[in-house]
Amino acid sequence: MKIKNICCIGAGYVGGPTMAVIALKCPDIKVTVVDLNKERIAAWNGPLDTLPVYEPGLTEVVAEARGRNLFFSTEVDKAIEEAEMIFIAVNTPTKTKGEGAGMAADLRYVEACAKNIAQVAKTDKVVIEKSTLPVRTAEKIKEILDREGKGVHFEILSNPEFLAEGTAIQDLFKSDRVLIGGYETESGQKAVQTLVDIYANWIPKVKIFTTNVWSSELAKLASNAMLAQRISSINSLSALCEKTGANINELSEAIGMDHRIGQKFLKASVGFGGSCFQKDILNLVYLCRHYGLDEVAEYWHQVIKINNYQKDRFAQKIIDYFGGDLTGKRIAILGWAFKANTNDSRESPAIYFAEKLFKTGAILEIYDPMVSKESIFSDIDFYWEASKPKDITTGISVLNSLNKLDLSIDAVTILTEWEAFKRHDFSKTIVFDGRGILSSSNYSIGKG
Ligand code: UDX
Ligand code: UDX
Repeated sequence: MKIKNICCIGAGYVGGPTMAVIALKCPDIKVTVVDLNKERIAAWNGPLDTLPVYEPGLTEVVAEARGRNLFFSTEVDKAIEEAEMIFIAVNTPTKTKGEGAGMAADLRYVEACAKNIAQVAKTDKVVIEKSTLPVRTAEKIKEILDREGKGVHFEILSNPEFLAEGTAIQDLFKSDRVLIGGYETESGQKAVQTLVDIYANWIPKVKIFTTNVWSSELAKLASNAMLAQRISSINSLSALCEKTGANINELSEAIGMDHRIGQKFLKASVGFGGSCFQKDILNLVYLCRHYGLDEVAEYWHQVIKINNYQKDRFAQKIIDYFGGDLTGKRIAILGWAFKANTNDSRESPAIYFAEKLFKTGAILEIYDPMVSKESIFSDIDFYWEASKPKDITTGISVLNSLNKLDLSIDAVTILTEWEAFKRHDFSKTIVFDGRGILSSSNYSIGKG
C-alpha cells in the first residue's frame, strides 16, 4: 500500500519536528499534525519566528513544507478519517496518582487517542506508537482499537523517536537508526514495509532496523537509560575528583579515548534534565519491579538517585561557600533550559537548584536566552513545592538580556551551556559553573 495521507496526534517537541521532516522529504504525502491545544496549533500556523518549538533548522523546514503538504490543525477527527497512517505522539508523563504513581508512565492520553481513532476510523489504519511507551503497550492499544472500532482493520507499529532536542532536525535528517517494530504476522510485516518505504526516501536502508514490537518499545527505554547511566557514572566520579584533586574533564577524556567506551555522554554536569531520561528510567524501574526483577530495578533506580545527588550537591556547594546561609545574597542563575539550543525546561536541573537556593534565603536573578519569563514563573509554580512564595515575584526576577546582569551581584551560577555564557566577561564576579564551560570559574563541577 502506498501512503498518501499521514496524521500525527500531538504537535509537541516530538510530533512537530518529526512530521515537518517527513513532509519535507516526502512531498507526495499530505502530513497533518493535530493537537487539542488550540494555542499550540495557532503558533505552528503563525509567524516562523514564534513557532512553539525552538530547534535550529526547524523554521527552514516548516517554511518549505507548510501549506504545501504539511498542515497543522485542531480538527482531530477529520485528520484521522483521511489518513491511512496515524502517528501517536502525545505526552506520556510519569503518573502522579493511582497505582505506580511517581514511577509508571501515565498512558491516559495514548489510550484516549486509541479510543478516538477507533471511533472515527471508517477505513483500515496503520497506527504508530511514536511516544515512548512501556513495553507491551501495543497490546493495550490493539485491545482498545479492536474493542471500540467499527469493523475496520488496525495494524500497530512501534517507531520510537531518538531525536535529541537542540539537534532534532539534524538527528532526523541523519538518524543513527530508524527503528520499526511490527507484529510478526503477514499484515504486520506489510505495515512495517509501508513505513520503511517512507523513511527510505532519505534514510539509507542499512540504517532502518526492523524488529518485533516488543523489542522496539523496549529499545527506546533502554537507549535512554544507557545514555543517562553514562552521565550518572561520570557525575558520580566528579564527586571523587573533588576530594582527590583529579580533574573530571581530564578523567572523562582519558576514559573516552578507549574506543570501546567513546567520548559521548561523558560530560560531567549539574545533572541531566529533560522530559525523557528521568521519566523513562522510572518507567523502566517500575516495569522491572512489575516483573519481579527487583535487583534490576534497583540497578537502574541508582541512575536517578545519583542525578538527584548531583543536582543537590551543586546547590549545596554554593550554600557552603557562603557559610550555610544565603539570606540577602543576590545570586544570578544563567540558563533555565535543560540543555543549550532549546527553549524546553521540563525537568531542568535549574528549577530544582533555584528552589534550594531560594529556600536558603537567596534573592534570585534568572536569565535564559530562549526560555521566556512566563515559562520560568510557570515552572516555579508547577515544580516548586512548599517553598513557593505567595507572591511569586518576591525575591525572584527574570532578566531579558545578559547585558542587564549587574556584576556587583554576590555570585553567578551557570546551569545551561549556552554559547553566550562562554563568551561573556563576568569580570571579577564569583562564578560557579555547573556545566564546566568556563576556563576560569571559581567552582565548576565540569572542571573539577
Ligand atoms: C514527550 C517526550 O519527549 C516523548 O519522548 C514522550 O514519549 C512523549 O512526550 P513531546 O513531543 O516532547 O513528547 O511532548 P509535548 O511537547 O508535551 O507534546 C505532546 C502534545 O500532545 C501536546 O501539544 C498536547 O497538547 C498534545 N495532546 C496530548 C493531544 O493533542 N491530545 C491528547 O490527548 C494529549
Ligand atoms: C534524549 C536522548 O538523547 C534522545 O535520543 C531521546 O530521543 C530523548 O532523550 P534529550 O533529552 O533531548 O534527548 O537531550 P540529551 O542531549 O540526551 O541531553 C539530556 C540531558 O543530559 C541534558 O540535560 C544534558 O545537558 C545532559 N547531558 C548530556 C549531560 O549532563 N552530559 C552529557 O555528556 C550529555
